Amino acid sequence: MTITGKTRVCGVIGEPIEHTLSPIMHNAGFQSIGLDYVFLAFRVKPADMEEAVNGMRALNIRGLNVTMPHKTAIINHLDRVDLSAQIVNSVNTVLNKENLLFGFNTDGVGALKALKENGVELKGRKVLLLGAGGAARAIAYALAKEADELAVLNRTVKQAQALAKLLERSCSKKIASGSLSQNDIQINLQDSDILINATAIGMKPKLDESPVAPKLLRKNLAVMDIVYNPLETKLAKDAKEAGAKVISGVEMLIYQGAASFEIWTGKTAPVGVMRKAVLNQLTKV
Ligand SMILES: NC(=O)c1ccc[n+]([C@@H]2O[C@H](COP(=O)([O-])OP(=O)(O)OC[C@H]3O[C@@H](n4cnc5c(N)ncnc54)[C@H](OP(=O)(O)O)[C@@H]3O)[C@@H](O)[C@H]2O)c1
Repeated sequence: MTITGKTRVCGVIGEPIEHTLSPIMHNAGFQSIGLDYVFLAFRVKPADMEEAVNGMRALNIRGLNVTMPHKTAIINHLDRVDLSAQIVNSVNTVLNKENLLFGFNTDGVGALKALKENGVELKGRKVLLLGAGGAARAIAYALAKEADELAVLNRTVKQAQALAKLLERSCSKKIASGSLSQNDIQINLQDSDILINATAIGMKPKLDESPVAPKLLRKNLAVMDIVYNPLETKLAKDAKEAGAKVISGVEMLIYQGAASFEIWTGKTAPVGVMRKAVLNQLTKV
C-alpha cells in the first residue's frame, strides 16, 4: 500500500477499539480493487465525541464507522441522518461529502443481506429476534418491513416493548415482545422459522453461554448469531447439532461493512476478499 498526499482516509471510532476487525476488512477491500483509500481505528472517549466529529471535518476524513458506545450520541453532531437510522436512533456509518456529514445505519441491511445470500427468505416467515440494543434495533426495523411476523425478546423487557411499539408505528404490523426467559423463548420459537441472536450473550470470553437452551432448537429453523467472536458461538454449535441451518455473524459483519464501503467509495465492495481477510484474522486469534 502506498500512502500519498491524495490518499483518502476512513476509519472506525469507538471505545474500546483494539478488537475491531474493520481495518483488516476495509483495507483488504480497498487494495483489491485499487482504491487510494486507507482505513484506521481511532479510540474516542465519550467525552471527546464532539471534538472527534469536528476533527473529521477539519481533517477531511471521508468516512467513519461508529461502534460502541457512540452509535446514538453521534447523531446530534451530524448534518443529516437517514430515516432508518433516525428511527432506530443508531448510526454506524458517516459519510463526509463536501464537509457535510451524513449518518446511516448499515446493520439492518447487512443482516438481511447475510440471510438472503445464505438462502434464507423472509417473505411469509416468522422471525424471533433476541436483543433490543443498537444492532437489534436496526435489524428489527429492516425485518419488520420484510418478514410476515416478528417477536422481540430482551433481558430488559421495557426495551423490547419500546422497540415493538416503535416498529408497530412505523411498519403497521403487530410485533410481539417479551423477556429472555426460556419460557418466553420456547413460546415464541415454536412457530418461528428464523431465530436471530442480537444480544451480546456468547461473546468472547464467555464461550460457554447461549441465550437458548439446546432442547428448544430444531430442524426447519434458520439461526443467525450476530456475535462473530468466537467464529462459532455455543448457540451456533447447538443449532448445528439440532439440524438447523446456521448463518455466522461474520456474514452480517461483511455485508454491513460492504454497505458502508459502497457509501464511502461509490464502488461495489469486493465481498469475497473482505470475508477472507476477516476469517484469516479470526482464525489467528
Ligand atoms: N455481526 C455484526 O456485524 C455485528 C454488528 C453489530 C453488533 N454485533 C454484535 O452484537 C452484539 C450486540 O451489539 P450491540 O451493538 O447491539 O450492543 P448493545 O447496544 O450494547 O446491546 C446489547 C444487547 O445485548 C443484551 N445483553 C448484553 N449482555 C447480556 C446478558 N448478560 N444477558 C442478556 N442480555 C444481554 C442487552 O440487553 P439489555 O437491553 O437488557 O441490556 C442488549 O439487548 C455484540 O456482541 C456485538 O459484537 C455484531
